[in-house]
Amino acid sequence: MDQIVIRGGQRLKGRIPISGAKNAALTLLPCALLTDEPLTLRNLPRLADVDGFGHLLNQLGCSTTIEGSRPEDFGRVMTARATTLTSTVAPYDIVRKMRASILVLGPLLARAGEATVSLPGGCAIGNRPIDLHLKALEAFGAEIELASGYVKASAPGGRLAGGKFTFPVVSVGATENAVMAAVLAKGMCVLENAAREPEIVDLCNCLVAMGAQIDGIGTETLTIEGVDRLHGATYRVMADRIEAGSYACAAVITEGDVELVGAKASEMEATLSALRQAGATVEDTRTGIRVAMSGRAEPVTLSTAPYPGFATDMQAQFMAMATLGTGASLFTETIFENRYMHVPELARMGCDIDVRGRSAVVRGVDHLVGAPVMATDLRASMSLIIAGLAAKGETQVNRVYHLDRGYERLEEKLQAVGADIERISAG
Ligand code: EPZ
Repeated sequence: MDQIVIRGGQRLKGRIPISGAKNAALTLLPCALLTDEPLTLRNLPRLADVDGFGHLLNQLGCSTTIEGSRPEDFGRVMTARATTLTSTVAPYDIVRKMRASILVLGPLLARAGEATVSLPGGCAIGNRPIDLHLKALEAFGAEIELASGYVKASAPGGRLAGGKFTFPVVSVGATENAVMAAVLAKGMCVLENAAREPEIVDLCNCLVAMGAQIDGIGTETLTIEGVDRLHGATYRVMADRIEAGSYACAAVITEGDVELVGAKASEMEATLSALRQAGATVEDTRTGIRVAMSGRAEPVTLSTAPYPGFATDMQAQFMAMATLGTGASLFTETIFENRYMHVPELARMGCDIDVRGRSAVVRGVDHLVGAPVMATDLRASMSLIIAGLAAKGETQVNRVYHLDRGYERLEEKLQAVGADIERISAG
């Protein structure tokens, strides 16, 4: 398994190109299942999860072709086309490796009137149930059966009728599955307390470009008037606001000055506000967002929440940033039940973090010491990179396949702004 080795102490200076958003790409790709015409996605990030999703689409009969892009380019152009579906089954061996595979459930149900998708199971950060996905689909007329670890969904008469569902808990994935199921329904579908993440706005905008009729985009109430068919489209994936926020934390902890090229401030207000709380200079530029810092981070108090609140996907990265701050910072993780897996690894580097249930107190220390550490999940592994960039000495981050799921060419982007970082391939 590959390892990333960092020798800390370099201030990050320069421009970091932000790639297409992983969590937008993973809900845009299944949209190809909703039509027999080609869907072309631009600015698709080169990520393991995107490759994995392409493989799943192929299993269902959807062709995927990558158009020419130079090796030095970030992002790719992919055209996906499901002329006819050859399967409506997402098997366990694929779904268990990539939870986002569950996002084929809604589109398969809409296009083929049936879907058999393995239950994804839990992961490092929580047990990740999908009950809300299923309840929303049932509200639109789907019949759901759970058997032998699979969800078997069908639409009576081959087409969802429509209906109304109010989410008791905001769920990004359940909102995405429900919207993709609704666009081809016979009648109208209404979702209340829907998730409002920018990735869902991206999904809705792409579906509208394909001929869907969706009102309330960006709000918590989505009204979808089903249509008989969708057509192909070309759509550009939004910039990755979580990648941008991650590199912003790296800039702050190294007292650097970076421009996050392609990042959109309007999609990451809570993150930018948290950076300003830490004492960073944050300003819009013509091509992105500049984040600069001199001195140590001020204490922050951050509680994760659904968008537009502070993103749970930013918690581990801000915690790493706070380890060298002045005073004590307080974090509260309200979304997932086990999202402090990075804490024991950060402690190996000399961080002072005290976890009490859903909350964690981070007391700034004078310095961190590089050490061999283990990545456990995607955002936890980024927190280890951030700490390693500021630690004295060498940090070896193991199990970097976690990182490769969500950060395109991370070491190249960091080398380009002065980090002493390299990937050691295990062959
Ligand atoms: C998406 O996961 C993201 N993944 C996650 O990013 C992100 O952390 C999460 O949204 C929250 O923003 C992708 O977009 C691929 P949820 P998702 O459904 O959809 C509970 C990353 O690091 N819940 O919004 O699975 C659930 O347990 C990843 O990029 C139910 O109870 O998250 C959680 O407590 C990690 N029943 C809360 O809702 C359900 O049916 C929010 O989960 C579904 C969810």
